[in-house]
Amino acid sequence: MANQKGGVAKTTTVASLGAALAGLGKSVLLVDLDPQACLTFSLGHDPDQLHGSVHEVLVGDAAVADVLLDTEGGAKLLPATIDLAGAEALLLMRPGREHALRRALVAVADDFDVVLIDCPPSLGVLTLNGLTAADAVMVPLQCETLAHRGVGQLLRTVSEVQAITNPNLSLLGVLPTLFDARTTHSRDVLADVSDRYGMPVLAPPIPRTVRFAEASASGATVLSGRKNKGATAYRELAANLVKHWDDGAELKIVSVDEIYS
Ligand SMILES: Nc1ncnc2c1ncn2[C@@H]1O[C@H](COP(=O)(O)OP(=O)(O)OP(=O)(O)O)[C@@H](O)[C@H]1O
Ligand SMILES: [Mg+2]
Repeated sequence: MANQKGGVAKTTTVASLGAALAGLGKSVLLVDLDPQACLTFSLGHDPDQLHGSVHEVLVGDAAVADVLLDTEGGAKLLPATIDLAGAEALLLMRPGREHALRRALVAVADDFDVVLIDCPPSLGVLTLNGLTAADAVMVPLQCETLAHRGVGQLLRTVSEVQAITNPNLSLLGVLPTLFDARTTHSRDVLADVSDRYGMPVLAPPIPRTVRFAEASASGATVLSGRKNKGATAYRELAANLVKHWDDGAELKIVSVDEIYS
């Protein structure tokens, strides 16, 4: 999950989609690549109390298996702490710095069906590590005015990663988040992004619901507790992805007009 724009629901998507995929019987690893450690915190772990994190893994002081944590939704978590802010500087001095995460994950790759990586809101060396380790990138996009600004820059970064560090990286598409079908400008923003960049828009859009804000505050996953339309949307997205991965089905995408019909 990558988008250098902040607050577009990268972290919420990783946590919710991870729980939904685990609910479908997949063995799931979630990777918190953000020094703010919001994913770690929202999954019920206090980043200040951890003895090891993805920081130690990236700089070569710990193996992934030694720092993995359990989460309520059933996925495993490779947590972050604020130390990760320093990894950026440490990594910059090392050769092959974009490959640190990929190299570390090789050791546990066989233990998981799916690995979801929560990138920080920047295009720095941590996001480059995420893109280099990934098979595919999904771009959560809040459908608001100016949301498209920065998408071009992200796509340039993706194509540089494809050319230099990860030729196998594919672009899954844009995931509309914090979506409100009542606003006409969300339609314009989505149409603009899909026309301008030829990006597929993944189905279904994730509606804005108050349950998400409550869930990240309480540390529970958004999928637990009462039914809500956000959780339903993430479950449907998970099911679409599983059909795509397991049965080779085309990933379900929607035309922008279809979203509003
Ligand atoms: N579908 C939704 N409905 C309502 N609120 C949401 C929804 N998805 C996310 N949020 C809220 O929006 C805020 C930003 O979400 P989140 O932290 O997942 O974004 P992010 O892209 O990871 O941010 P950052 O770039 O800072 O890492 C959070 O307060 C989250 O609870
Ligand atoms: Mg985040």
